[in-house]
Amino acid sequence: MAKLKIGVFGAARGKTMINVLLKHPDAELVAVCDKYTPLLDEVKNEADAKGLKVALYADFEDFFKHDMDAVILANYANEHATFGVRLLRSGRHIMSEVLPCETMAQAVELIEAVEQTGLVYAYAENYCYMDRTFEMWRRYARGDIGRVTYGEGEYIHDCSSIWPRITYGDPKHWRNRMHPFFYCTHSLGPLLMMTGERPASVTGIMTRFDPKYYQAALSMMTAGIEMVTTTSGAVFKSIHGSLKREPGSVNYELYGDKGCMETQRFGEPYLNVYIEGDKACVGNRESYFPQKFIDAELARNFGTHGGSDFYATHFFIQKILNRPGKEYSIDVYRAVDMGICGLLAYRSCLAGGIPVEVPDLRDPAQRGKYRNDHACTTPEVAGDQLLPRIPGGVEDAPPEAYEKIRRLWLAGKNYEN
Ligand SMILES: NC(=O)c1ccc[n+]([C@@H]2O[C@H](COP(=O)([O-])OP(=O)(O)OC[C@H]3O[C@@H](n4cnc5c(N)ncnc54)[C@H](O)[C@@H]3O)[C@@H](O)[C@H]2O)c1
Repeated sequence: MAKLKIGVFGAARGKTMINVLLKHPDAELVAVCDKYTPLLDEVKNEADAKGLKVALYADFEDFFKHDMDAVILANYANEHATFGVRLLRSGRHIMSEVLPCETMAQAVELIEAVEQTGLVYAYAENYCYMDRTFEMWRRYARGDIGRVTYGEGEYIHDCSSIWPRITYGDPKHWRNRMHPFFYCTHSLGPLLMMTGERPASVTGIMTRFDPKYYQAALSMMTAGIEMVTTTSGAVFKSIHGSLKREPGSVNYELYGDKGCMETQRFGEPYLNVYIEGDKACVGNRESYFPQKFIDAELARNFGTHGGSDFYATHFFIQKILNRPGKEYSIDVYRAVDMGICGLLAYRSCLAGGIPVEVPDLRDPAQRGKYRNDHACTTPEVAGDQLLPRIPGGVEDAPPEAYEKIRRLWLAGKNYEN
């Protein structure tokens, strides 16, 4: 059988998917697009070393015309839905990096493009596939801790030192414009996938924001917290953003009516499990390193992000080919469930922490209200529905602050206090 012809849009984070495609038995990397051409040179060197031919494009319109069955979107986090809808409507399956969409209107448009084309949409929320989270998913599905009552997800990443490398001092880069609330799927997503729960309402709270960071063009130095109530009455706390902690934290805990599971917050990546026995409050405790349990041989070739980076792309390929493993690929409804919790949590936060309903956009009757809802923090997208970049009218950094970050990036240096 011919291999799937797959292209990658965005070659920074996209390098991870490029690496998987260069070694995957069922796929062929046929094209890569990035306007920052040094990244294309790196792809060329890798492909040449393997004796492979990959078409390289700096311009999306040229890339778009290339013969591809599927495209992986690793471009700017706020532009996935816009490019994704266009690619779906041109007949390509898509996999999207985080985030799925920047507005409620885009959520509706994306879902309808997937439904109308019948093509595969996969959401690359790799944090669902880390050895520990994937094991929690497997054990929850097996019924080990009973029915979920409460969960916590945490993604803490102080990006200040690497800010030059990931924003290039560009005031319009999505990382400089988007409120951290929007980036909620690393912390919330695994909880939803492990349990199969659907969010019903969300309350958003944020940590104190010190304007000194914003003035230094370090705009993400705060954390967003979503308190999500699910349709079954379980509660999930999701926290994500830049707090002072090294190493960063990617951690989860899950309580059910028969026990709990949680990852080790400092130190070795153990999973801790407690399961109640026949007597109340008496049970069995385990602490162990979870092993890969799906396509482990192939997965072991890819070590990044706790072993998770291989799986998102692999399950996307399996789903297109209708093969086992496809059930782990995250579909558009689950992606939107995760993503819109962050968008709506920010609205809750701006309104003083009132609970906001999370619609079930699987239901066409619930879509009408959001079709023209463009509220977000990107002026060109939001128009007259623009939300403040930070609550409280904090002013943007002066141009000199961005210039300083840019100089650091050009010199290949990190930010230091
Ligand atoms: N899942 C994870 O663990 C993880 C980790 C890092 C980044 N990400 C996600 O990956 C995506 C990319 O992030 P990043 O860290 O690579 O930084 P980024 O968003 O700055 O990089 C995007 C790349 O796409 C290119 N690009 C964007 N628009 C383009 C266009 N119209 N034409 C040509 N090239 C274009 C840029 O030049 C850049 O190299 C984001 O969605 C981010 O959320 C995910």
